[in-house]
Formats: sequence, C-alpha cells, structure tokens
Amino acid sequence: MLKVALIGPAGQLGTEIVASKPGEVELVPLGRNALDITRPGEAESVLITLRPDVIINTAAYVRVDDAEDEAEEAFRVNALGVKYLAMAAKKTGAVLVHISTDYVFDGGKKPSPYNEDDAPNPLNTYGISKYAGELYVANFTGSHYIVRLAGLYGRAGASGKGGNFVYTILNKAKKGEPMKIVDDIHMSPTNAADAAREIWRLITEERPFGLYHASNGGVCSWYEFAVKIAELAGLKADITPVPHTAYKTKARRPLWSPLESERGIRPRDWEDALKDFIGSL
Ligand SMILES: NC(=O)c1ccc[n+]([C@@H]2O[C@H](COP(=O)([O-])OP(=O)(O)OC[C@H]3O[C@@H](n4cnc5c(N)ncnc54)[C@H](OP(=O)(O)O)[C@@H]3O)[C@@H](O)[C@H]2O)c1
Repeated sequence: MLKVALIGPAGQLGTEIVASKPGEVELVPLGRNALDITRPGEAESVLITLRPDVIINTAAYVRVDDAEDEAEEAFRVNALGVKYLAMAAKKTGAVLVHISTDYVFDGGKKPSPYNEDDAPNPLNTYGISKYAGELYVANFTGSHYIVRLAGLYGRAGASGKGGNFVYTILNKAKKGEPMKIVDDIHMSPTNAADAAREIWRLITEERPFGLYHASNGGVCSWYEFAVKIAELAGLKADITPVPHTAYKTKARRPLWSPLESERGIRPRDWEDALKDFIGSL
C-alpha cells in the first residue's frame, strides 16, 4: 500500500486531499504540531521515522500583501521550509509533491494562458518566495511533482487567509452589501477538490516527474468570477467593476495569470467546477 504523508492537512487544499484519498493509499496527516517545516532538522527526523513513499506539501505562507512586510517569515515557510523538505525527501527516497502558484508569473503581455514552458518572473515577495521553493524542489530532489494552482477556493477556506473569495462574495451578497470588484486582473479560479483529484492522479498514475499546471480551465476576471458566484447561488448582488488601481495593495499582482497545461492535465472549466462547489454548500 502506498504511504503518503500530507503536510497542511487542515488547510483549504489539504482538506480536499484528505477527502479524496484513493482507497489504495495509507494517508498520514502531519499538522503543524507534528511537523513544522520551518524547523531545521524536523522534517528529516519525522520523515525518517515515518518512511512515506510520497510527501505532499500544501503548507505555505499565503498572505500575499502581508508578505511584503513579513518577507523573512514568507521565505522561512515558502523557501527554507521547502528546502528542508526537499532534503528530507531526497534522504528518505520519497517522492515530493509540492504546490506552487500562478504568482510566479509577471502577467506580461501574453495572448494565452501560461503553460509549463513559460518563464517565471514573480512580481511580489510571495511569488518570489514560492518560486524559490520551486527551485529547491527542482534542484534538490530527483523525484518530484511541482503543481501550480491559482485562485484556490475550497470548503475549508484558506486558513492562512481567513476564508476565500467565494465565501467573501456570498457573505456580502447575502447582506446586500455593494461590492467593487477588479475587472482588469484575469486568472483561472480553481476548486480545491478538483486540484486534489489532479494531485492524486499524478501520484497514482505515476505520471512523469516534473512541473504541472493544474488550475481549472478557462479565464475570467475577478469581477466575472464574483458575478458568477452570486448568479450560481441565486443571489441578487450589487457588484461594480473597477480597475485594480482602485485598490492600493502592498503587493504588486500580475494582471494576467491564467494557467493551462501542455503536460496532459485536462481539468474542467472553472464555471462547471464553481457550480459544483456552490451546489455543495
Ligand atoms: N489560496 C490560493 O488562492 C492559492 C493560489 C495558488 C496557489 N496556492 C498554493 O496552494 C497551497 C495550499 O494553499 P491553501 O489555500 O490550501 O492554504 P491554507 O488553507 O492556508 O493551508 C496551508 C496549510 O499550511 C499549514 N502551514 C503553514 N505554515 C506551516 C509550517 N511552518 N509547517 C507546517 N504547516 C504549516 C497551515 O497550518 P495552520 O493551519 O496551522 O496555519 C495550513 O494548514 C499553497 O502552497 C499555496 O501557496 C494557493
């Protein structure tokens, strides 16, 4: 039986990875109390005892704006912690599955979504720290999957962010609060349950190691995403499109970061995935 250690099991993505565990897998959830990836030596000692075949790392510092003021902490989790994990994976011979982000891209002029062959150039500290993590995984382990996701939403809400965009829009729409949502930033929103299924597929089908884009398919602006959330929930919402310059944020964000895969990941469209999510609430 395949033994899989999951880091960040209570997070938004981790919760869905637990929920969609295939029958032939023994899953060992490792919460932060069992393994804090930022503590030097801890990953190695925990994983040498556990001897998993596969390690899935969903742990991250995900507060994009705060990362500008807390760069050391962002790097401690997203880069150094990942280095410790990569070294432990190499030492124990485990396959490392590491989750990354569309924010490794700069959103520069591109007529189509980014695929795995496009060159990263992150604009903000979160993206730079996540890209550094990718480099540690790619260069410190032989057997790895780096899975980039975008605009993630799931039942658990991002514990690091205190919710997610879908919950925020639903709550405001229910209260009848008017909303101003950015319509000039485009991405591929991703249902965490779909992402979890793709991750399990990579592992159980023993797909070639390397980098994969696994967001839901298609492209939308945050405004279009918000309108669709309210529509699918049957809520009347007062949503006004605004340019990103209407909000002052600490972190610069890529204006264009939809993802697609050239490596055989064929996820369903974001609207279908969102419909399922809203229906399940
Ligand atoms: N959210 C998005 O929109 C988005 C978009 C693209 C990519 N991603 C990537 O997707 C992955 C999962 O994101 P998510 O939304 O599921 O995040 P999340 O809900 O915040 O979950 C992250 C998990 O990591 C754990 N964690 C944080 N620091 C840790 C540490 N030092 N040691 C061990 N565990 C630690 C957290 O535990 P605690 O609960 O104890 O803090 C939490 O359970 C991340 O790699 C993120 O960069 C997210």
